[in-house]
This record gives sequence, structure tokens and C-alpha cells, in this order.
Amino acid sequence: MKSTWKLPNLIYRKTMLKLNQVNSNHTADYDKAAVSYDDYYSQNLGKSALEMLQKIPVQEDNYVLDLACGTGYFTHRLSRKVGSNGKVDAVDLSFGMLQRNKEIAAEKGLSNITFVQSDALSFLSNLSNNSVDGIVCGWGICYMEHDKFLRELERVLKTGGFVGIIENKASSLKEVSNIYTKALIEYPKALIKNININLPKNKNYLVNKFRQRSFYILDTWEGQVTINCQNGQQIADYITKSGASAGFLDALDKELRPQVMQSFVKYADDSFAKGRAVPVVHEYCVLIATKL
Ligand SMILES: C[S@@+](CC[C@H](N)C(=O)[O-])C[C@H]1O[C@@H](n2cnc3c(N)ncnc32)[C@H](O)[C@@H]1O
Repeated sequence: MKSTWKLPNLIYRKTMLKLNQVNSNHTADYDKAAVSYDDYYSQNLGKSALEMLQKIPVQEDNYVLDLACGTGYFTHRLSRKVGSNGKVDAVDLSFGMLQRNKEIAAEKGLSNITFVQSDALSFLSNLSNNSVDGIVCGWGICYMEHDKFLRELERVLKTGGFVGIIENKASSLKEVSNIYTKALIEYPKALIKNININLPKNKNYLVNKFRQRSFYILDTWEGQVTINCQNGQQIADYITKSGASAGFLDALDKELRPQVMQSFVKYADDSFAKGRAVPVVHEYCVLIATKL
């Protein structure tokens, strides 16, 4: 294909895939990343998550939900905080992530956790009104329809119940996604699914969404974490093994995926070679609220 047609072709494909809602399956990518997730994602972003955990008003004996629980960064800590008379429901779509979570919980001897492989919204829809003391969702709301999610949070939480959300902002990993797009422009046919990820713009977006419902904002802040990568291959390894590219890999045709990733590495290496290090920066926002 002539290179002049590649960008319009990619734009056309993106539009059609979006219109037809042929969405990529991030769960398949998380299943693969499950074994390395903690060494890459939790290792780098865990400290930021811990800051939120220390500020949420969770108490002994509480019944709490860890939605999009993954390998259990929050699950295990919540389990200890609520104690033997409390309970945690740990919910995730990915069998692989949930399996890791279960294994780690067993190693730690945590027995007050119920593991549920489910979409978070479907899980919530089966709960009674005013039945939950607290809800945590770490790096997971980007996979959900925000208005529906908030409506369910408001419904299932008891009055005075808490919610803690931490998520990447839309500007997160900006340079990395620019390079992914450059690689895709070379192989427009590689894109066979729409990447449907709903990142919040910033903390004000979350504040406004929660204020539109019966929530009082207890705290909100933003932060960023830079991942130390020295070349294109290290960036490719980071995004695949941390799960940061979940949904972006499944969106690619299996045969063409290696070529796209090679091209990704090449563009990143070119940038390093020109003295322009590619910043790998997670920008995130946090919100802690209570139901009025
Ligand atoms: C970045 S990981 C976060 C895991 C964990 N909360 C943590 O803090 O490490 C995102 C998780 O969301 C899960 N997930 C994505 N969409 C989901 C959905 N609709 N319902 C439940 N879990 C979902 C993924 O399978 C993945 O385990």
C-alpha cells in the first residue's frame, strides 16, 4: 500500500470499528499479563495505590468490594483491615488475574475473601440496595461506563459508606501511545478491533461525576509515576508485562502483531538515538467519597 494512503486508511478503519462496536478484549491481554503484573504494574504504581488505601475510612467488620481486583493489591490489604468478622468480595473479569489473587491470598492465609469472576457492573446489579460498607476500584473504571457504574455504587452503598477510586488520566502514557499510533500507521490493516477505554480526563471529572449523585468528596488528588526505560524493547516489555497495553494488543491481527510491535520498538529506539528519551509516565487521579 502506498504510504500516503496509510494514515487515511487507519483513520477509516478506526472509525468503522468504533461504529460497528467491534471492541478489543482487554481480558485476554490481562490473562496473559497476570504472572508478571505485580513485578511491573504493582511494583511501580503500588505506592500511589497505598496512599489511597491509607486514607479510605475502612473499618473492622466492614463488608467491602474490590472491583476489578486483579491480582489483589487492594484485596489482601482490605482483607486484613476488615478482619475475621468482615468480608471482601474480590471481583474481576480475568480468570488469570483472579487466579493469581487467589493463590497469593492462600499463601497469606486470608480466608475472608470471596472471589468472583464477573463483570463489575453485572456483579453490582445482583446486590441489594444499601448493603455494602465500602467499595474500592483500582485502575478499573476505565473499562466501565462511568454513569452506570456510579448509579450502581450509589445504590448498593449504605449511607455513610465509602468509595475509593484510582485511575490513570487520559493523558497517561501519552508518548507511548503516540509511538503505538505511528507503528499502526505503518500497518493499518493490523487494527482489527476498536480500543474501548474510558479514562477520566482529571480529578475534576471524577469530582463532578460524584457530585452529580449523592456523594460527599472526602479527598481527591493527582499524581504521576515515571517508569525507567532506556530503549524501545524495555518500553514494549513494560507495557505488555504490566498490562498497560491491555486491549491494545488484542486489537491487533495476530499475524501482524509482531510487525507492529517491532515497528513500535524501532520508532522508540529512533527517538532515543536522537537524544529524545521516550517518557513513560503514568498520570493518575484519585477520589475518595462517602455516600450521603
Ligand atoms: C490495571 S488492573 C488493576 C488490578 C487491581 N485493582 C490493582 O490495583 O492492581 C485492571 C483490572 O480490571 C479488570 N477488569 C477490566 N474490566 C473489568 C470489568 N468490566 N469488570 C471487572 N473487572 C474488570 C481486569 O481484568 C484487570 O484485572
